[in-house]
Amino acid sequence: MTLVKLPIYGTKGLEALKQVEARLHEICRGNDSQTPVFSAVLQGGKRLRPALVILFGSFAPAPRAELVDVATAVELIHTASLVHDDIIDHAGHRRGIPTISARFGNHQAVLYGDFLFARAFALLTQHGQTGILANMTRAISLMCEGEMEQSALRFDCNLTEADYMAYVHKKTAFFLSSCCLAGAEVCGLSPVYQRHITAFGLQLGYAFQLTDDLLDYCGTGEVTGKPVLHDLAEGYLTLPVIRLLRTHSHGPFLRRLIEERDFSAANMDYVRAALESTGILDDVRRKASLLLMRAKQNLARLPAVPERAFLSRLADHVLNRQH
Ligand code: IPE
Ligand code: IPE
Ligand code: MG
Ligand code: MG
Repeated sequence: MTLVKLPIYGTKGLEALKQVEARLHEICRGNDSQTPVFSAVLQGGKRLRPALVILFGSFAPAPRAELVDVATAVELIHTASLVHDDIIDHAGHRRGIPTISARFGNHQAVLYGDFLFARAFALLTQHGQTGILANMTRAISLMCEGEMEQSALRFDCNLTEADYMAYVHKKTAFFLSSCCLAGAEVCGLSPVYQRHITAFGLQLGYAFQLTDDLLDYCGTGEVTGKPVLHDLAEGYLTLPVIRLLRTHSHGPFLRRLIEERDFSAANMDYVRAALESTGILDDVRRKASLLLMRAKQNLARLPAVPERAFLSRLADHVLNRQH
């Protein structure tokens, strides 16, 4: 299975993204004979986070090697978090192949995730960019806090939309925003733009997680490369379910189903159909679209370099993506 990359791939001027691929390949070989086997998980990702580093790092002339290393490091951090996330979520597939935890067990997956984090830090320290390093360590701390909060709220039918948005900020949005700022820092973009870059990254990040959570209900595993209809069974009440719980027509039944942990195929079909018929999936999509519109408004405040148009295309892709 080949997973599709971002629509900006192959764009002239973005050769740095190809260099990131080469760097990932090189770095993840490790010295142990097993690491190349594990590193298959590094293939097939969309590379959204390195693309953000490269694009924001192209608003002004930047040292190419440093930009490529920072972009590679963020993909390593992201993949490490996915390897660990798949243990927590009992996920069998990622990027179209069996997860490391499913194939080699949790012990190996914990260690490989740590290995990827360590490789990322080795790259980040190489260029003495303490600002980027500080922001990335903060992003990882928040990511863990967000995952812990989400975990503590499993099966909690009183979860509110505000609770959901708060943990999405920590587990996804802050990191995306940090990737944007890291690129801007490498190319020395003036700090006057920092507020708009941060806002762009956060809004993109919220919208990204909203569409990820929608795809769990309306995507297919062949396209996403990971399990679908999986969140609810794991106890993750994402925005569509939070909203369905508030309806008179389906709320009480859904609450009972969650309390009794009765996620039979028939019940899952019911939930999926109810999300469709109530228009909740469309409403959540509209919320993501609104967030992306705001993200683009922030983008419009940045200098009009060609990369700004690529970022705008990326934002559109986040809404329309199927994987
Ligand atoms: C998955 O991220 C985790 C989320 C934050 C939703 P991606 O959808 O970017 O995963 P890859 O890198 O393409 O595999
Ligand atoms: C991914 O979260 C992990 C982080 C954002 C840290 P999810 O569990 O929601 O994403 P998928 O659906 O497994 O990719
Ligand atoms: Mg998870
Ligand atoms: Mg998961």
